[in-house]
Amino acid sequence: VERIPALYFNKATTLLVLGRGDVFLCVCRYPLGMSGGQIQDEDISASSQWSESTAARYGRLDFEEGDGAWCPERTVEPDSLKEFLQIDLRSLHFITLVGTQGRHAGGIGNEFAQMYKIKYSRDGSRWISWRNRQGEQVIEGNRNAYDIMLKDLEPPIIARFVRFMPVSDHSMNVCMRVELYGCEWLDGLVSYNAPAGEQMSLEGQPVHFNDSVYDGAVIYSMTEGLGQLTDGMCGLDDFTHSHVYNVWPGYDYVGWTNESFPNGYVEIMFEFDRTRNFTTMKVHCNNMFTRHIKAFRQVVCYFRSEADWEATPLSFSPVVDDVNPSARFITVSLANHMASAMKCHFYFADTWMMFSEITFQSDTAMYNTTLAPPKTGSGPPTRDDPTHKIDDSNTRILIGCLVAIIFILVAIIVIILWRQVWQKMLEKASRRMLDDELTASLSLQSETFAYSHNNPSSSSAPSEQESSSTYERIFPLGPDYQEPSRLIRKLPEFSHSSEEAGDMKSPYCDGVPHYAEADIVNLQGVTGGNTYAVPALTMDLLSGKDVAVEEFPRKLLTFKEKLGEGQFGEVHLCEAEGMQEFMDEDFSFDISDNQPVLVAVKMLRADANKNARNDFLKEIKIMSRLKDPNIIRLLAVCICSDPLCMITEYMENGDLNQFLSRHEPEGQLALISNAPTVSYSNLCYMATQIASGMRYLSSLNFVHRDLATRNCLVGKNYTIKIADFGMSRNLYSGDYYRIQGRAVLPIRWMSWESILLGKFTTASDVWAFGVTLWETLTFCNEQPYSQLTDEQVIENTGEFFRDQKRQVYLPQPVLCPDSVYKIMLNCWRRNTKERPSFQEIHRALQQG
Ligand SMILES: *[C@@H]1O[C@H](CO)[C@@H](O)[C@H](O)[C@H]1NC(C)=O
Ligand SMILES: *[C@@H]1O[C@H](CO)[C@@H](O)[C@H](O)[C@H]1NC(C)=O
Ligand SMILES: *[C@@H]1O[C@H](CO)[C@@H](O)[C@H](O)[C@H]1NC(C)=O
Repeated sequence: VERIPALYFNKATTLLVLGRGDVFLCVCRYPLGMSGGQIQDEDISASSQWSESTAARYGRLDFEEGDGAWCPERTVEPDSLKEFLQIDLRSLHFITLVGTQGRHAGGIGNEFAQMYKIKYSRDGSRWISWRNRQGEQVIEGNRNAYDIMLKDLEPPIIARFVRFMPVSDHSMNVCMRVELYGCEWLDGLVSYNAPAGEQMSLEGQPVHFNDSVYDGAVIYSMTEGLGQLTDGMCGLDDFTHSHVYNVWPGYDYVGWTNESFPNGYVEIMFEFDRTRNFTTMKVHCNNMFTRHIKAFRQVVCYFRSEADWEATPLSFSPVVDDVNPSARFITVSLANHMASAMKCHFYFADTWMMFSEITFQSDTAMYNTTLAPPKTGSGPPTRDDPTHKIDDSNTRILIGCLVAIIFILVAIIVIILWRQVWQKMLEKASRRMLDDELTASLSLQSETFAYSHNNPSSSSAPSEQESSSTYERIFPLGPDYQEPSRLIRKLPEFSHSSEEAGDMKSPYCDGVPHYAEADIVNLQGVTGGNTYAVPALTMDLLSGKDVAVEEFPRKLLTFKEKLGEGQFGEVHLCEAEGMQEFMDEDFSFDISDNQPVLVAVKMLRADANKNARNDFLKEIKIMSRLKDPNIIRLLAVCICSDPLCMITEYMENGDLNQFLSRHEPEGQLALISNAPTVSYSNLCYMATQIASGMRYLSSLNFVHRDLATRNCLVGKNYTIKIADFGMSRNLYSGDYYRIQGRAVLPIRWMSWESILLGKFTTASDVWAFGVTLWETLTFCNEQPYSQLTDEQVIENTGEFFRDQKRQVYLPQPVLCPDSVYKIMLNCWRRNTKERPSFQEIHRALQQG
């Protein structure tokens, strides 16, 4: 029987909604003040700091002060846990969620923690290592320097002090920004001591009622800790089931049998942070009487304030229930006793007694008064007043439902308001961007001319406007083409310093590239453009022995023709002698040995600035690791002397966009116009190759960010290789959209979440693939959404986000069968999880 999600109050202001499984919706998820500033600088400390500007106080999530994060003095080594960032919350808190981020610092920083552990303390002296419900300590951290990674803490932590301890499997520089989420721990409970939970044999199977998340010492009894009785999770009616997946039967409960307790009771001792004025204690008990489990028959509590135990205990006997087998809270009135510790004897009503949660309400820790005033009567209730003692489950459910309804209504109002604000912001933003667009397009014009003026070897170079070469306008926008996610978020000043750029050269020449630095590798195409998010792990994976490409003797290159140029350099078509020796066995030119081969050579100007140099070397680093028949191959480099060069395959048919624009679909019209044609099956063949190349990239967790026909190159016999590397920015400047005159974004290819949230993932690449497929099948005869202005495209993105069926999709191309259009529509699903993977797309296209 499925149970309706249980609603109950806990931890005073905390309303927990428990559903099936580990669904654990909880409103106790407020940021505790790292980003909001409520946590003071002096309450943030650390084991060490790299410099004054990376001190602990800069470890605030989403802050960019100082050098952008907390960084410890030493690199983090495997198996050493020396470094930590510590937060003092000043009082006990119930912490349900943590967030971490690396050091981005406007694009300069690239340090982050791939993994970390958490330690916490309630008193500042005893430190406890956090473990999840499966016993693991290591939490997966960040994959780049800017995204915020949120991790639910299961079980939650009750603590005043929290330490984040970066962990690494190799020596690396780490910086962190963090936030804690939760709420104040109004119970004030610091620890409970109880006999260890026991084991039941149920139909021959053991059922364990141990307190598996207890954080104190457990020998014969549990001391000095908190655990399952305070983890915010109530057990189900049937104790053999649990909210948590993959755990043993009986997980949620701590249980005891009367055979081990000759006195007939279990003693649990509770210690509090200070003397409190107690109103109630609520004990969540199982009552599966058919299995000889019942709530307690009687409880007798002793109170201690200051040093002495009060002489007279408080006793309470709930009605023993053999009718209703559901688990329930039993409320015990504590009659305004003042105490800092409490010792309760729970008497068995049957063979077994099982608790899953115990909560306390005391002075400040009463219910949020607007939700459920605990008392309206005059004076404290007398001990025998039943209305205050027996938990009436109907009233409880009623109150629970009412609160749930209020909560849902508030949520709806918030969502409505938020949408309105969002809509306004979008409108404003797009209006502002339109203004920028006007100025930007003007400046773009002048840039274009500037390049052709500043052209050292231009005698034979065709003018940019006439040329149809693929490699034309190779280095155009430079620093203007920026990493989009940041721009969307903050539109920061572009300041990009890279002192180490010059130093980066030497490792390559030694053939010992240095991969230890983790992070986002800013893969700047020749133009300085694209960014691949490369998780450090992938980098390591890829850094096998044969990673570095070899240095090619410059004298064996013969210049044939200039293919393009830009601010930072040029691309030449060259003949290379003896290139075969530099190639892997798995890669072959279809040219017999010792014949010179045609290659494209990208060359960085000797006077290029450090940024450009650095990006050029990074591009080499990435490209040298991409080995797939459908990805453009880096063949060799010349980086031991200036000018730096990279030698790539030459694709004679240019990019797919130009290629298709020159061709027409097979048919009458083509016969009349005598234009070259491409058959539908060849279009499909090309699309399948793009999917295959992307499948390879996605298998390495590379996010391309700019998939489009303009970034796919065409070789002989309709072979396709994905290039991107920002080759064609200027030629296709109309495809990109500028924000604040700085960033250029291919908005017509971008998913809604990339535009609105700055999120770039394989799923957003899948979206772009859908658009690329659409371009292919329309022979690139128009821009996507050509009837919409850029502003309207962004508005349409908003419609995708709102998902009220007002979004406009690209129409089905004439040539496109329903089955292929369906693939496109699937690529443009709002929910990223519903989009197909490249593997699935590839398979579907192969099958026609
Ligand atoms: C609790 O019992 C389970 C099942 O036997 C066992 O795997 C786990 O380690 C125990 N946990 C503790 C803290 O004793
Ligand atoms: C405890 O709280 C109750 C209700 O707020 C109050 O009437 C009572 O005086 C308090 N007891 C002490 C000792 O402060
Ligand atoms: C445990 O409880 C059961 C049921 O009430 C009772 O029959 C049995 O005698 C008790 N055992 C002990 C050792 O008290």
